Amino acid sequence: MDLKSLIRDIPDFPKPGILFRDITTLLRDPDGLRYTIDLFTQKCIDAELQADYVIGMESRGFIFGSLLAYKLESGFIPVRKKGKLPAAVHSIEYELEYGTDCLEVHQDALHPGSRVLIVDDLIATGGTASATAKLVQQIGCELVGFGFIIELRDLQGRKHLPDVPIISLIEY
Ligand code: PRP
Ligand code: ADE
Repeated sequence: MDLKSLIRDIPDFPKPGILFRDITTLLRDPDGLRYTIDLFTQKCIDAELQADYVIGMESRGFIFGSLLAYKLESGFIPVRKKGKLPAAVHSIEYELEYGTDCLEVHQDALHPGSRVLIVDDLIATGGTASATAKLVQQIGCELVGFGFIIELRDLQGRKHLPDVPIISLIEY
């Protein structure tokens, strides 16, 4: 299946000069969604990326991360933007194009030695994925790998990630 044909390109969103890769058109396509998740699952199995937990980043990472966790028979743990999680959290600040942002995970969700797979819809600069990796590694988790539906190769995000397997289904 041609997955790229299910991704909609929106120029100049959210800012001038950004070509936004919109996954909502893939999500609404029943065959496309099933094919994507089945392929994502098979690639993780082939790369031996099964983990105790799939970690998904707010908000598009929640969609693909939880579907993948179901298929891999793992638990799902959300990493959220600052102030959204109700119980005690571990936090990490990370650099954005302008300024900083903060990601959080519940303190009782992960423990030293937990095996985790980090999943998001897309890797661009790698800032989000790299901050999430630092967060789970600071806790002492074993990071087994990363999975993305889309990789924007030109931005070289994978250069900022630790040396573990990285899966992506669609490259631009
Ligand atoms: C998008 C995307 C990734 C991140 C990738 O999320 O879903 O999480 O940007 O960019 P990076 O590799 O440069 O860090 P966004 O922050 O737009 O949030 P959303 O999923 O809530 O739209
Ligand atoms: N997140 C960061 N860059 C993006 C892009 N070009 N399209 C969709 N989501 C993004």
